[in-house]
Amino acid sequence: MIEKLRLARTVRHVMQKTTPLLSIRIPATSANLGAGFDCIGVALNLWNTFELHLVPGQEAAVTVESHGEAAATLPKDHTNTVARILFEELDEVLGQKAPGPLKIVCRNNVPCGSGLGSSSTAVIAGLVFAQALARRELTPENLDTLKRAVLPRAVEIEGHGDNVVPALTGGLMVITRAANGRLLTHAIPLPRQRVVVCVPDFAFLTSKARAVLPPALPRTDAVYNIGHAVLTIEALRTGDLKLLAKALDDRMHEPYRVPAIPGAIEARQAALDAGAAASCLSGAGPGILAFAGGEHERVGEAMKRCFADAGLQARYWVLDTTDSGAEISLGVPV
Ligand code: HSE
Repeated sequence: MIEKLRLARTVRHVMQKTTPLLSIRIPATSANLGAGFDCIGVALNLWNTFELHLVPGQEAAVTVESHGEAAATLPKDHTNTVARILFEELDEVLGQKAPGPLKIVCRNNVPCGSGLGSSSTAVIAGLVFAQALARRELTPENLDTLKRAVLPRAVEIEGHGDNVVPALTGGLMVITRAANGRLLTHAIPLPRQRVVVCVPDFAFLTSKARAVLPPALPRTDAVYNIGHAVLTIEALRTGDLKLLAKALDDRMHEPYRVPAIPGAIEARQAALDAGAAASCLSGAGPGILAFAGGEHERVGEAMKRCFADAGLQARYWVLDTTDSGAEISLGVPV
């Protein structure tokens, strides 16, 4: 039997206890992949989960409870990114009001400020929750329409789609604009790859990482990047790590960003010396992503040591790419 959630009815008949409305789990993503600056992103098997609850009787319009990564430092009120995006979208864009006091529960596994798209997961969760609250009826069948509805808005808010698009769709995605300015996304079939991502404890905000980039690029570097981006896609599509070793190089952002992260130049090289086929900055950094056919722990430890030598603590994750994107469920899955 198809279960339906009627938000209006839920609100009318709500008991004096927390009512879970819906939850969403969203994968980590690695953007750019070398030369594909702002245009290529891949989903990784590490997930943040966000729940939306209705809490009748709660005084505040919204409270946020965080577990896992950065739980102690994330705001617990309307200034939390998920809550802020939810209310901005609901009030200002969709012209609706929340049906009652809300509680958002965040279960974060994606490290914050790492280059693994954690902020994109928060933006997507806020937008999906806003869309859900604005609709009169949600059914298991129409949950996917929520994802389609939030995609262009998520890209607009983030300013580039190479994290938010693969986070929504899963897999390896190319994101660009059509000649008329409309968003153009394309999925590339991807045989599963196992990667190592090493993240130093170093604050390198995306805004800062974009500010270090020169405004223009010599034509030779642009041509270099076009060739390498095409080869990177071909290497990943065919699972050809030898080709990826030649393809994964960039002249548009890494030369400006990698030297700004202590230990990163050495960590990239150490990953290769320890057996990785290719390495690059994960998104805007500071995480380093290494593709390896084996020896994953060795690669992770080698990168970690380089950051330690530069005075930074670091953690690493061995992750598979995933074809699954954001998954929305009614209520909260047990
Ligand atoms: N393409 C983006 C950048 C990803 O490199 O700035 C970071 O969000």
